[in-house]
Amino acid sequence: MPDKRKIAFITGITGQDGSYLAEFLLEKNYKVHGLLRRNSNPSYGNVAHLRHEIEFSFGDLADPACLSMYLAKIQPDEIYNLGALSHVHESWLQPLATADQTGLGALRIYEAVRNVTPRSRLYQASTSELFGKTKIIPQNEDTPIHPANPYAAAKALAHFDAQIYRESFKLFISTGILFNHESPRRSPDFVTRKISLGAVAIKLGLKGGRLPIAQGGRPVINALGKLELGNLDAQRDWGFAGDYVEAMWLILHHDRPDDWVVGTGQVHTVRQFCEAAFSEVGLNWQDHVVINPEWNRPTETGPLVADASKIKRILGWKPKTSFKQLVSMMVHSDLSRLS
Ligand code: NAP
Ligand code: GDD
Repeated sequence: MPDKRKIAFITGITGQDGSYLAEFLLEKNYKVHGLLRRNSNPSYGNVAHLRHEIEFSFGDLADPACLSMYLAKIQPDEIYNLGALSHVHESWLQPLATADQTGLGALRIYEAVRNVTPRSRLYQASTSELFGKTKIIPQNEDTPIHPANPYAAAKALAHFDAQIYRESFKLFISTGILFNHESPRRSPDFVTRKISLGAVAIKLGLKGGRLPIAQGGRPVINALGKLELGNLDAQRDWGFAGDYVEAMWLILHHDRPDDWVVGTGQVHTVRQFCEAAFSEVGLNWQDHVVINPEWNRPTETGPLVADASKIKRILGWKPKTSFKQLVSMMVHSDLSRLS
């Protein structure tokens, strides 16, 4: 019997979003392929629990030859380009690698689609970081793009090229301009997971080798038992990653390619995230958090908050998880992991 399942190809499958998307598509009976970077020790990251259900292809967004070869072999109905060097702070330390993997990596996929599988539908992971320095609040699909860091500049290249390839070559390339989304699978390099891990490590009194490693390869709590953070006034629109992968799928199932803002429309500060996370474990954040200017950024983006009315109106998508539920989910997952 021929296999009639729809075929999806995901880059960035080991990351936070790749793992939720793979689960979502497997649930819908897709055949799921993923691009996996070869490490000296094989690592399946967040999809280790699915490694027998996914077909992996070793490759890299830096290598156009492998991308074309895999598209020719896999013939995907849908491609989700989630692979990227995705950390803003890190993008100042590795600006050229970021431009190459996050910016040109997307362009290499567009070229492979154009030349090899022009009928594939392609989702490009764009970002609220595109709006960077904008003074317009909230932001929607018509808000001018104003990147404020090397990561955002690389994503802007990928975003503009997505629009150019869509219009010039009549390819089905859609972008999801996603605002921050988090989960228990978020890397500890990002502020929300750093806080949830920090609050739990302090609550459990973890020390030395029992401490999880966070940003910069350092233990999440410093030698004085404090959680070090940068700008507590930074404001973000935080949603749950599990809700957002459904938006990606809906975006590719619209009748034409387009750009879509995805977010909750609610903004919170890093300080409010600290308050909520520490209070989940019965602690007062002010007793445990200290400022380390090392985590400040050369430029900070303005308040990023989504006007996601277009996707709600046309595709019927809206977030299901509140800020409070998200914080609670992350803290309780870390509690059971570290206890
Ligand atoms: P993530 O957890 O950092 O995952 C990034 C993924 O990209 C990992 O699987 C990583 O593989 C892979 N990757 C990096 N460089 C690659 C390369 N050169 N070739 C192939 N794969 C490569 O990111 P995420 O949070 O899931 O986000 C997914 C995408 O959405 C990213 O493009 C991100 O920029 C974008 N985005 C995220 C958010 C958010 O709030 N999460 C918001 C807007 C947009 P390894 O495991 O081998 O490192
Ligand atoms: N990482 C980190 N670590 N950020 C901190 C810290 C800290 O110790 N202290 C304060 N912050 C502030 C940052 O200055 C930033 O304003 C905010 O917390 C959020 O930082 P991150 O969690 O690193 O995420 P991001 O908003 O820079 O980027 C994420 O969201 C983008 C969408 O807007 C990433 O997932 C990007 O890939 C994504 O495009």
